[in-house]
Amino acid sequence: MKTGDPNSRSVEARASQTEVVLIGVSKKFRRGSLALQDISIRVDKHEFVSLLGPSGCGKSTLLRLVSGLTPASSGQLEVMGKSPAAARDQMSFIFQDATLLPWRTVEQNVGLGLELEHEKKETRIAKVAKMLELVGLTAVAQRYPRQLSGGMKMRVSIARALVSRPSLLLLDEPFAALDEMSRDRLNEELLRLYSEQKWTVMFVTHSVAEAVFLSTRIVILAPHPGRVAHVIPIDLPWPRTAETRLTMAYEEQVAQVSRLLRSVQTASLHSPDGQSAEEVQV
Ligand SMILES: Nc1ncnc2c1ncn2[C@@H]1O[C@H](COP(=O)(O)OP(=O)(O)OP(=O)(O)O)[C@@H](O)[C@H]1O
Ligand SMILES: [Mg+2]
Repeated sequence: MKTGDPNSRSVEARASQTEVVLIGVSKKFRRGSLALQDISIRVDKHEFVSLLGPSGCGKSTLLRLVSGLTPASSGQLEVMGKSPAAARDQMSFIFQDATLLPWRTVEQNVGLGLELEHEKKETRIAKVAKMLELVGLTAVAQRYPRQLSGGMKMRVSIARALVSRPSLLLLDEPFAALDEMSRDRLNEELLRLYSEQKWTVMFVTHSVAEAVFLSTRIVILAPHPGRVAHVIPIDLPWPRTAETRLTMAYEEQVAQVSRLLRSVQTASLHSPDGQSAEEVQV
């Protein structure tokens, strides 16, 4: 079963609002099997698209292709109408293993990208201060990473990614290491910033609840080789707040996405050689 088709409208019809487009993209690592096969995904401006799927199905690889850090083996991939490398300065990436520089304070970590871009000192200080305020870190600006909680460290990573005002944000399991309450709170903060700053987001997670809460659309990938199994629009009303999690509509969406994800996982367990997940009934 396939839920929605990312290519149902023509490239031309949606060109003006399309931020990321992958058409028939595959990735084979030099030493390794096919990590991604024939991926077609279109992400419009201001969409929040989450990628879900079993470990090893290629979620991080897909983000790295979009970021331009890793080249695709075949297919067409454009970010804002350019090659990913050419669009690099309009996007920010928070890696799966985001680390802060331990010898730099919070303030200096957040300002790192601006320093590398040779931004003037006064401008840099002002931008960093505004960003720290936005993510609630002003009080700890002079602290070092070892003096912060996990949630605070993640906020610093987010601030560092946002300070250059990216148009496209690529987030790879940013909240995976946090307890549920901290994660919920950061999810709400992320959406507050998203509504203010209007980025386009591609977000990798293993949490169905998180993906449903945050996303306008969820893409479920199947493994061996990594491919798109389902595309699910999330029609919950905006703004989404802690209250959203208490609604029936939210619970139903979580149940639906969980079912589809389980079907992909079951299929991959039974057919490691890559039988189509779409053959599995849900
Ligand atoms: N640099 C590389 N060289 C060879 N194979 C790689 C490389 N990077 C990833 N792979 C392989 O590509 C596949 C997809 O890996 P990827 O890290 O994208 O998965 P993932 O969905 O992000 O997994 P997880 O949920 O565990 O983070 C895996 O089989 C992995 O072993
Ligand atoms: Mg990964």
